[in-house]
This record gives sequence, structure tokens and C-alpha cells, in this order.
Amino acid sequence: MHLLFQGGLLLPCSDQVAVQAADLRVRGGEIVEIGPRLQPDGAEIVDAHRKWILPGFVQTHIHLCQTLFRGMAEDRALLPWLRERIWPLEAAHTPETAFLSARVGAVELLLGGTTSFMDMGSLNHTDAIFEACKALGVRATVGRSMMDRENPAGLHASREANLRGACDEADRWHKQGRLRYAFAPRFVPSCSEGLLMECVDEARSRAAMLHTHASENEAELELVKEMTGLDNVCYLEKLGLVGPDVGLAHCIHLSEAEIEILAKSKTRLLHCPSSNMKLGSGIARIPELLERGVHVSLGADGAPCNNRLDAFSEMRHAGLVQNLRAGPGQLPAASILRMATLSGAEALGLDDEAGSLEVGKRADLVLVDADAPGLLGSRDPIQQLVYAAGPEHVDSVYIDGERVVHKGQVAGWDGPAEAQRVLTAADEVAARAFA
Ligand code: GUN
Ligand code: ZN
Repeated sequence: MHLLFQGGLLLPCSDQVAVQAADLRVRGGEIVEIGPRLQPDGAEIVDAHRKWILPGFVQTHIHLCQTLFRGMAEDRALLPWLRERIWPLEAAHTPETAFLSARVGAVELLLGGTTSFMDMGSLNHTDAIFEACKALGVRATVGRSMMDRENPAGLHASREANLRGACDEADRWHKQGRLRYAFAPRFVPSCSEGLLMECVDEARSRAAMLHTHASENEAELELVKEMTGLDNVCYLEKLGLVGPDVGLAHCIHLSEAEIEILAKSKTRLLHCPSSNMKLGSGIARIPELLERGVHVSLGADGAPCNNRLDAFSEMRHAGLVQNLRAGPGQLPAASILRMATLSGAEALGLDDEAGSLEVGKRADLVLVDADAPGLLGSRDPIQQLVYAAGPEHVDSVYIDGERVVHKGQVAGWDGPAEAQRVLTAADEVAARAFA
């Protein structure tokens, strides 16, 4: 495969390559050349005039198994949201409904230009989530959301069963094509200390990531303090659950000591601004955290706490909420776009292959229609992308140089017929959960 994207405006999201009007050549799924007026040399030409070309977005915290629950868990704070709605719903999944939930969620991600992401899974049906990701060709890091403490919906298993299951899944899926495994204990209140510690060992022995939630909500923090005697991140540090291979979702309520731990250990903070607002969890102090050297990337979290999955919404909300909290200009649009692309790839250990437009990286690309009426105005594409753009402005999306989205259509997604199956599955799961 040999493609030449001609005439576009490249937004490389790279520390090395500047925004420029240039052509981009892809061979064998890899970006091999960037420059003005490249010769076709037999390439198939992609006309990118009046298009912005950027790397596929990388979202570092997603719950595909929750996509079917959109609108089923409204108006609650984190702990009642989990106990009353989300855990019963997750417990009611079958492999088929989990597959459909992941499939429609991944389709939504693709339509919004997200080509890579990390998913938190559920206690069950991790294989179904992987199968859905594999079928759509997304670059996904997925893990079983392990829980071994008593759960009101019965969504728990023994420590041994959790770990055996996770290790088997890792053996099946880790580093298979575009797929990777992450060890994903759900959050401290749901996990025994032994489970958390063994996750660290199992993940590191396989060079797999660790993924959990931390310090999202004040009631959660109190629970953690009661259970462990420590602040959440201090406790995770004690267990070795910090480092560049660890992604911690949310991290809103942090002490000075915890900020220092995150910065020093290079732990990846997975910022979910829309979810943080929807659940009323609080506002993470992102400008100050970046200033202190904490690594930050973005994620939509799950459909029932957002209720969208596109990276554009996360970028816009990340900016708006800081303008309100810290003052306009404290979190520049360029920093936000970096969080949604290259920082996401760094967080997932994918920065050799994704997150920016550079020669040698895989051709995961998004073409945005610069002439869309909703984007016209200033000639600053970064401001427009962060604050004005949405999935409706995505013209096409490529993964490894293969076109997976074109003009609002995802390759392999059979619109109305699949929508009907999704609706039926959502009804079935809700009926089982709340019978
Ligand atoms: N903490 C533990 N589980 C979850 C979850 O499913 N969503 C969010 N937002 N926070 C969590
Ligand atoms: Zn989450």
C-alpha cells in the first residue's frame, strides 16, 4: 500500500515537526516522508486540500462495556452511581451484550477520530471486548476490571480467580497485532491489598501496563483512608502501584505529597474532564499538575458518566473548566491537543508508533474538513480543533494507513441493523439488572 496525502495542512502534534502545509507519504502503513510537493512515484493520491491532517487521538481511559448504559445512570455521585446502577448493569452482561457494547463504543470512538485507547473492561467478558476491538482494527489496550472485595451486585471473584483469569487473558491478547493487555484492578475500595500487589508483579513480569481509578471523589477518599490509613496515592505508592507503566484515572483530590509522588514516579494521570463534571466529582488542577511535572493525557471514561466518547468534547471541556477555575489562558489549546495525542501515546507506551505525525510512525491519521461552516473564522487550526470541532467535522480516519472511517461511515458497521441489535441488547441488560 502506497498513499500520498496531497495539499493538506499537517498538525503533527510533535515536539519535532511544526504545523505546515505539506504532503505526507505512507507506505506499508507507515509514515515514510513529509514535505512540500512530494512526487507521486506511483502512489494512490488522497486529495487533502482544505483538510487538517492530525494523528489519531489517543484516549487513555474508556469503559467500552458501559456504552450500552448511556442514560441509565443519571444524576448520581460516584459511589451511588456505581452501586445502584453501573455494577448491577455490568453484572447483567452476557458475552454477546458485552461484545455489542464494546463494538458500538469503538465505532463511536472511530467516528470521533480516536484510533488508540485504553479500556477498563469489566470483571467478566474481557475476551468479548478484545474481539470487538480486533474486528474493528482499533489500537486498544484492554484489561479485566478486577474486584475481589464483596460487591453489592455480586460483581466480584476471589483473588485467585481474578488473577488466573487476567493472566490467561494477557497470554491470549497482549501484543497481538494492535492489541495489548493492561492489569486493571478497579479501584482501591474494591480490591484487597494482596490483589493489588500481585497485579503489580504480574503486569511487570509481562511488560504490561497497570490501570486503575484513584482519588476521583471525596467519599471514595474517605473509604480508602478508613481501609488503609493512607491517602489514596500514598497507598498506591506503598504497594508499588506508581510509575511510567501505571495509569491512574481522575486524580482530582490530591495532597501536595501525592502530587510529588506522581511527578517523581512519572505515573500517568488520565484526566477525564467531562466525567468529572457529570458525576460532580471535582476539578483536577491540571495547569498546576503540568507545571509540577505530572504527565497528563485525556479520556472520555464511560458513556454513562459523560455521555459522549469523543476526544473533541474532552479537549473542549478540559479547557473550559480550567478557564473557569484557574483563569483564561492557564491551559493553552496546544497543551490540550498534546494531551489528546502524543501524551496519550506516551501514557500507553505507544509513542514509538502513534500520537504524532513523524516519519517512522504508523499512519494513524484523522482528516478534518477545514471548510466545515462550524470551523470557519480564525485561521488558527489548533484553537478551532480544541474549542470548535466535533466528530461531525471528521472527514476520514486511517489506522496503519487503512481507511476505517469515511464521511461518517465506519468500515464494517452496518448502520440501522446493528443499531437495532444494540438497542435490544441494552433493553435486555437493563431488564436483567433491575428485575
Ligand atoms: N471508579 C471505580 N469504577 C469506576 C467506573 O466505572 N467509573 C468511574 N468514573 N469511576 C470508577
Ligand atoms: Zn473510569
